Amino acid sequence: MTEAILLVGGKGTRLRPLTVNTPKPMVRAAGVPFLTHQLARARAAGVDHIVLATSYLAEVFEPHFGDGSALGLHIEYVTEKEPLGTGGAIRNVSSRLHSAPDDPILVFNGDILTGLDIAALVATHQQTNADVSLHLTKVPDPRAYGLVPTDETGRVQAFLEKPQTPEEIVTDQINAGAYVFRRSLIDTIPAGRPVSVERETFPDLLATGAHLQGMVDSTYWLDLGTPAAFVRGSADLVLGRAPSPAVPGRCGDRLILPTATVAPDAKLTAGTVVGEGAFIAEGTRISGSVILPNAVIEPGAVITDSLIGTAARVGERSVLTDTVIGDGAVVGADNELRDGARVWCDAMIPPGAVRFSSDQ
Ligand code: GDD
Ligand code: MG
Repeated sequence: MTEAILLVGGKGTRLRPLTVNTPKPMVRAAGVPFLTHQLARARAAGVDHIVLATSYLAEVFEPHFGDGSALGLHIEYVTEKEPLGTGGAIRNVSSRLHSAPDDPILVFNGDILTGLDIAALVATHQQTNADVSLHLTKVPDPRAYGLVPTDETGRVQAFLEKPQTPEEIVTDQINAGAYVFRRSLIDTIPAGRPVSVERETFPDLLATGAHLQGMVDSTYWLDLGTPAAFVRGSADLVLGRAPSPAVPGRCGDRLILPTATVAPDAKLTAGTVVGEGAFIAEGTRISGSVILPNAVIEPGAVITDSLIGTAARVGERSVLTDTVIGDGAVVGADNELRDGARVWCDAMIPPGAVRFSSDQ
């Protein structure tokens, strides 16, 4: 048996305008709740028992995934009364694990889309006899992440979460949010109070001489923490750049889910997904975007790199680039929205109300 903990709690979601009643892990990416991709990838790597550690809008997970048997998994749910932080959340579920003290336990941040070779991370952990093994990836700007310098054997030398000063940026290797813990180590994390693995557990372990092993794997990797990244990740799933056994249908330029209606001359490209019951009118051009179920896109609208919420409506000839339109919102005809604009759920923008380009 291989067990995993999936961290899906925390203080809320930066996709909030779209998803007042839905936490980010449940927003659909390539047609299924994002979490499905992580669960399916873990299953494919041999994991059979997953504990979902959650604190925020917890009640939406269990009705959807149930006992996990549809995915070939046994899933359990543990809800924190107050967010316990990443380390506190891991400690809080330890009584649900059945593994022996030396067994490997996988831990995943719940907002990561990656092609990581999970079995290779476990193998590295076992070959090096590490206490904790970490998936590392290289990014051009590491400031928003945990920096993890290693020696020539991959042994971790320091863990610097969200470095503040230029001197702290000692490497471009970052914590990619997937770990293997020696099971017995989880019980050494203090219980009943918030603990950050990144700011407390890992630095403390290093200070006491524990063996933390890094494995650099430069496969596809994306933190879906921002709406723009979420839209990018969904498109990459549809295009097949991000591997997931849970994409419903074949990978290609677009994914149109059953019961969606798409006019024959609509141009859907660059990994666009059209959800169930959505309506895409004639003359529309939609690129790299997520159209959630029952949304309506009226004739001539042009949508790029955007997320259109459930049952939202985009009016005729409106041009949307890099925007999030909340569930049930209405963008009237002839508007232009761009550059990270977010329209709150159920808001109404009248026809011709907003533009960025100069008057004509
Ligand atoms: N259950 C629970 N309780 N989960 C939590 C809590 C909590 O109190 N706090 C955070 N999480 C979960 C989040 O839902 C997310 O899946 C994961 O832990 C990481 O939290 P984020 O808030 O997304 O952290 P981050 O993206 O700023 O940084 C983390 O991820 C980076 C990679 O994307 C850190 O692990 C960095 O070191 C890492 O580089
Ligand atoms: Mg994150």
